[in-house]
Amino acid sequence: MSKKINRIGVLTSGGDAPGMNAAIRAVVRASIYYEMEVFGIYRGYEGLIEDDIVALDARSVGNIIQRGGTILKSARCDEFKTTAGRQKAFDNLNARGIDALVAIGGDGTFTGLHAFYQEHEMPVICIPGTIDNDLPGTDYTIGYDTATNTVVDAVDKIRDTALSHNRLFFIEVMGRDSGYIAINSGIAGGATAIMIPEENMTIDELVARLDKGGKSKKSSSLVIVAEGGRSGNAIQIAEAVHKKSPYYDTKVTILGHLQRGGSPTYFDRVLASKMGVYAVEGLLAGKTDVMVGIQHKTTVYNDFETIMVKSNEIESEAIRISKILSI
Ligand code: F6P
Repeated sequence: MSKKINRIGVLTSGGDAPGMNAAIRAVVRASIYYEMEVFGIYRGYEGLIEDDIVALDARSVGNIIQRGGTILKSARCDEFKTTAGRQKAFDNLNARGIDALVAIGGDGTFTGLHAFYQEHEMPVICIPGTIDNDLPGTDYTIGYDTATNTVVDAVDKIRDTALSHNRLFFIEVMGRDSGYIAINSGIAGGATAIMIPEENMTIDELVARLDKGGKSKKSSSLVIVAEGGRSGNAIQIAEAVHKKSPYYDTKVTILGHLQRGGSPTYFDRVLASKMGVYAVEGLLAGKTDVMVGIQHKTTVYNDFETIMVKSNEIESEAIRISKILSI
């Protein structure tokens, strides 16, 4: 039998993602619904180490479901990577009687949480919040849908100007080592080519694809470049293409951190709401050191080893479809 939980702490860590607020709201309200007290920890593991912790109630998380960013703020914390840092964090939680922890973030967040659990055996659970969608064990991570929609909106706008000037645009998108945002925004935005880390497209192959489009009367082209791609960043790729084919009027747009902001889509709000509730219910059911996920409409709780063994693979279908349609 697992020990009764009385006080839950919640934090957001790593890169922020739209929908994190909806997840915080869900954790807070579900905790109260199940008659526990709940505490918000500011600035992720940094705030945990520095005891930047406040009690929250149902009203503290009112009017945030629609807001981007995270009201608890976020950070990447080196001190939590050390045993001493994690000990301070544990002492702070202990002093406040907090006996379980929910961390919302990506693989770095789960890695920290796992190390903390191994040393202190406090019940912990991770909610996947990252625009990268790079975690296995869930079909979608919180923030990915919103970020991809933001990219598609930007791509549509760039298409207007590309078309007006017969230009070739290279649009760099986030995703770290994952091509998820790139492949799906590329399909949705009608890109001529999509450069992702999961695939090796050489500059020659890219130029051949662009030339083929040119021969079939394509007047402008958009190339989506994932930031972790193998042929370099968008600037380097644009330069390499220009060197081989100076007849292209090339331009580069790096979308950058605007992909992380904005009001979450309905999809991210619902996903975050479900995951927040499932995280609390998972803790109450005795789950610990796991990441909550939703796969094929089913709630799953995967342990650290399962999640960290590989990244979330892009379906080969998406890659195939993008190639058929970009002729
Ligand atoms: O992991 C989310 C992410 O936005 C990545 O797509 C990107 O590589 C990274 O974070 C950027 O991190 P920072 O906010 O520290 O610049």
